[in-house]
Amino acid sequence: MRHVSVVGIGAGDPEHVTIQAIRVLRAADVVFLVTKDDDRAELVELRRTICDRHLEHDYRTVEIADPPRDRSAADYPAAVEDWRRRRAEAYEHAIRDELGESQRGAFLVWGDPAFYDSTLAILDEVLARGSVRFDYDVVPGITSFQALAAQHGISLTRVGQPVEITTGRRVADGRHDDHGDVVVMLDAQLAFERFAGQDVDVYWGAYVGMPDELLLAGRVADVAEEIAARRREARERKGWIMDTYLLRRRAQDG
Ligand SMILES: C[S@@+](CC[C@H](N)C(=O)[O-])C[C@H]1O[C@@H](n2cnc3c(N)ncnc32)[C@H](O)[C@@H]1O
Repeated sequence: MRHVSVVGIGAGDPEHVTIQAIRVLRAADVVFLVTKDDDRAELVELRRTICDRHLEHDYRTVEIADPPRDRSAADYPAAVEDWRRRRAEAYEHAIRDELGESQRGAFLVWGDPAFYDSTLAILDEVLARGSVRFDYDVVPGITSFQALAAQHGISLTRVGQPVEITTGRRVADGRHDDHGDVVVMLDAQLAFERFAGQDVDVYWGAYVGMPDELLLAGRVADVAEEIAARRREARERKGWIMDTYLLRRRAQDG
């Protein structure tokens, strides 16, 4: 039976790739690279660099173009359903047509497949469609927020306390206004700015683990402007940005 591994490759530093990931990738006949239409050439190139750096065997690379989602459609549920079907079809064709019956394939997933990544859900959908059989396993990777914490030299959890992982959209909607420690990903709108009037610290990082890495930390009120300016400048210069941050409410005395 075909075998598929979903391999977390870390947040951009080729040294994030674990020994387990290298072992699994070295056993792969086919490495699948999923490309989005808003994907930057640099990010696709980086995944190729990771393969070149760690793999020496004879393997094939197959690109899967992730179908874009129609965000303007009037019928929202129908549009989402259509997008899910098209994604499942693209993966299904790639696995069925590019992977031999007894071969091993590997999907490279940014960070860790367990955080804000749809590869596992899509593979389940492909299996449910029933036109190609395979089994799959998951190799964990270093997430962007683990890399962020390491670069700032902080723990994400304070003694006995939880940390939440969420999206910029939910923070902007005010859903985390009363919460202690929050890791924010996928933020296109500088949602942390809403905490400028409060005793909240931000530990921010962009391109963490990559040559263009940017790090800033401090009270939101003190650093929000600088983060916004550095973010804007980097985004204009490179054409894309990936950033993440921890929001941490200062402990109240007494
Ligand atoms: C679709 S999610 C994928 C998350 C990934 N699975 C992980 O474990 O980190 C993409 C988001 O991850 C964050 N991200 C990924 N790589 C990053 C990096 N090198 N530096 C900062 N943030 C990063 C950004 O918030 C970005 O919007």
